[in-house]
Amino acid sequence: MKILGIESSCDETAAALLEVKRGVFTLKKNIVASQIAIHARNGGVIPEVAARSHILNVIPVIQKTLGTGRPDVIAVTAGPGLITSLLVGIETAKTLSYLWRKPLVAVNHIEGHVYANFLSDPSISFPALVLIVSGGHTELVLMSGHGTYSIIGMTRDDAAGEAFDKVAKMLGLEYPGGPAISRVAVQGNPLLFELPRPMIDSSDFDFSFSGLKTAVLYLVMDLVKKKKLNEQTKMDLCASFQQAVVDVLVSKTLRAALKYKVRTVLFGGGVIANLALRTQMSHIFTAHAPQITVRFPSLAYCTDNAAMIAVAGYFHALKKDFIDPKKLDARSNWEIGR
Ligand code: KG4
Ligand code: ZN
Repeated sequence: MKILGIESSCDETAAALLEVKRGVFTLKKNIVASQIAIHARNGGVIPEVAARSHILNVIPVIQKTLGTGRPDVIAVTAGPGLITSLLVGIETAKTLSYLWRKPLVAVNHIEGHVYANFLSDPSISFPALVLIVSGGHTELVLMSGHGTYSIIGMTRDDAAGEAFDKVAKMLGLEYPGGPAISRVAVQGNPLLFELPRPMIDSSDFDFSFSGLKTAVLYLVMDLVKKKKLNEQTKMDLCASFQQAVVDVLVSKTLRAALKYKVRTVLFGGGVIANLALRTQMSHIFTAHAPQITVRFPSLAYCTDNAAMIAVAGYFHALKKDFIDPKKLDARSNWEIGR
């Protein structure tokens, strides 16, 4: 089966062609047209600018992916995300589905991040716990089987990626903030600034990052006032902020994995590209829960891409979970499993 994946939920226009033969995945093409350079000029994503760029890129990206070939199934991100961005991918997928008479699958973007884990190895032992940490989401999701999810915790305010992006802006670092902070943090002391670890000891699995972001803002204002915001204090601040986020994510993920007695822990979303997070997460599970398999998606598939949408689409197609193109619409607040 050949699956065309299409992704346009935020600021990447992406298409991918996945071939599955006797359960073996071969990613034939994976094209991402990034809008980072455009949004860096504005310091963040302006939805209308993103949508216009998707319109310009969607057909060339699909052409590069398919050449003259045709897929058997078309899978497209239908939400959550920016509505005007989503609609570009959705309308394109509907049109191709009509033209080529190929079945259409609607994929939840967060589910796509979950399935980025299966690109390298489609087998998995359930139940699994998934930590999703992206620019718009911070969620702990229990997965009892393919396509069966229940959200056990989510952020009450900012997503972790959003906090990275906002702190980077405060420090004058480039967009997107996550990679910029992690680069600068390498040379900083993570213990130098004492920052809060919001909700780290709460009995639930929810998160909150806006208090941490505000604590950094006050520190920055104080350092500016004392004329102490220099390259070194910026490095120390980035390292201390990153460590606070990592501590919360690691502690809650371990506690949830033990409570729900999962066999596997998976990760997804742009923040999962953070090396400090990956290293410390692996260490804590090796030390406290060696019986649980911990799997990360490859770095290339942490941030938004269409390969993950094609993989998720494949598992839906196996169950003939297709949607009539006339009924497909964008669901900007679509929660996984709903
Ligand atoms: O999953 P993603 O590409 O898009 C959404 O679905 O939101 O995630 C983007 C987010 C941004 O907030 C970006 O700053 C963050 O992922 N990010 C990182 C790193 N790489 C990307 N955050 C921390 N460390 C990184 N290395
Ligand atoms: Zn994403």
